[in-house]
Order: sequence, then C-alpha cells, then structure tokens
Amino acid sequence: IEKLVTPQDLAGLDVLVTAGPTREPLDPVRYLSNRSSGKMGYALARAAFLRGARVRLVTGPAHLMPPPGVEVQRVETAGEMYEAVLQHFDSVDLVIKAAAVADYRPGEVSPQKIKKQGQAMQIELARNPDILAELGRRKKAHQLLVGFAAETNDLEQNALAKLTGKNLDLLVANDVTLPGAGFDHDTNVVRIFGRDGVVEALPLMDKNRVAQKILDRAAKLLQSRQG
Ligand code: CTP
Ligand code: CA
Repeated sequence: IEKLVTPQDLAGLDVLVTAGPTREPLDPVRYLSNRSSGKMGYALARAAFLRGARVRLVTGPAHLMPPPGVEVQRVETAGEMYEAVLQHFDSVDLVIKAAAVADYRPGEVSPQKIKKQGQAMQIELARNPDILAELGRRKKAHQLLVGFAAETNDLEQNALAKLTGKNLDLLVANDVTLPGAGFDHDTNVVRIFGRDGVVEALPLMDKNRVAQKILDRAAKLLQSRQG
C-alpha cells in the first residue's frame, strides 16, 4: 500500500545496496568487526524498493528484519561481500555501499580456539580489498556509484578524497562524533557530496528520511543521464 502512494521514480532500475558490518574471523569463536547496525543500508534498500526499483541487499550480520520485496543475500566477511557485489555489479544501474567493510582481517585464521599465553599477544592483519574502489574502476557510463564515509575529523577533505579517489558519483559523509549520528543510531547527520560539485548538508534526521534524500539525488542524476 505504501508503494502505491510513493512516486515510482526508480521503476525499471536494478539497485544493489550493501549494509551492516563485516566479520573477520580470528579463530572458531572470535572475530574482528565494528559497530555498524545496518540500519542505514536497510533503510536505503526499503526506500529504493518503495520507489519501484528491483533491489538486492548484500548484508553483513545485522539484527534487522529484511525489508519486504528485497532480495537479501547474507555474507560475513569482506571477502564474501566482495564476491557477492562483483557477481551482480554488471547487471545493476545503481550501487549504494552503506556497509562498514573491515579494512583488515586477521592474516591467519586458526582452525582451533587460540589459548591464552603470556601477558601480551600480537595479531597480524592483512589488508582487505576495497570493494567500492574496485567498482569505481569497473563502472560503465550508465552506472551510478554511491559511497559512504564515516569520519571523526577533516570531514570535507576526507569526503572529497574518497569521492574522486574511488570514482564515485555521490558520497554520503557523516561525522560519527556528532550526537545522534552514524553507527548504531536511528538518526544520522550527513553531508552529500556530488561529483557535480553540489554539497547538501542535512540536519539530524531519521535514517529513513536520510535514505529518501540520498535516493532523491541519485534519481535526479539517473534521470538526467537517460536524457
Ligand atoms: N569500502 C569498501 N571496501 C572496503 C572498505 C570500504 O567498499 N574494504 C567502502 C565502504 O562501504 C564505504 C566507503 O568505502 O562506502 C568508505 O568507507 P570508509 O571506511 O569511510 O573509507 P576507507 O576508504 O576505508 O578509508 P578509511 O577507513 O581509511 O578512512
Ligand atoms: Ca575503512
């Protein structure tokens, strides 16, 4: 019913959204992860479906109900997310990478539980592939790429570096130090930087409304491209 009263400005489009944290195993009982709840990505997937898109949600472990109408694919590690996203990339028009992907993983995964020993221990980490940067390299003219950036400092400078460095069309930056913003909140405070130079600073709002704002920008860009 909600879909019936929503403008179908993403009708006929294929949208891929990633959400949640990734989990990088250390041994059978331990992993490295982050505080992402998945709320922003789930809100985006839901909103894109309501606006008429076919939506695939590739999600790390999140304690959220999958949005109705959305094809959900669950993954754990950054490596699995990489495989899932690359597998579908060629057939989608819009990718929104809201997931908080671990930059590093334990270099060796112990097949057995690691026993404690001594007063300190070191874990060697190996770099994970940057999924978004890889999509930026493969992007075709008709495809739109939206990235996120979680920052604690130098927001604008870091955001612009990610926007151009990863060949994105839009970058959604949030200052995770602001009250009510970022990881594990129902609300967010974001700035949307466009490759077109347009910067939109949004006030504190519910993640569902932030999702609508992001899709407004994306829909406009997609429409202007299709002439
Ligand atoms: N991202 C990704 N693959 C990674 C790391 C990040 O696809 N291995 C994506 C995230 O999904 C997000 C964007 O890149 O859309 C920015 O993530 P962020 O952690 O803010 O930036 P990084 O490029 O990883 O830089 P840093 O953590 O050093 O600030
Ligand atoms: Ca990172």
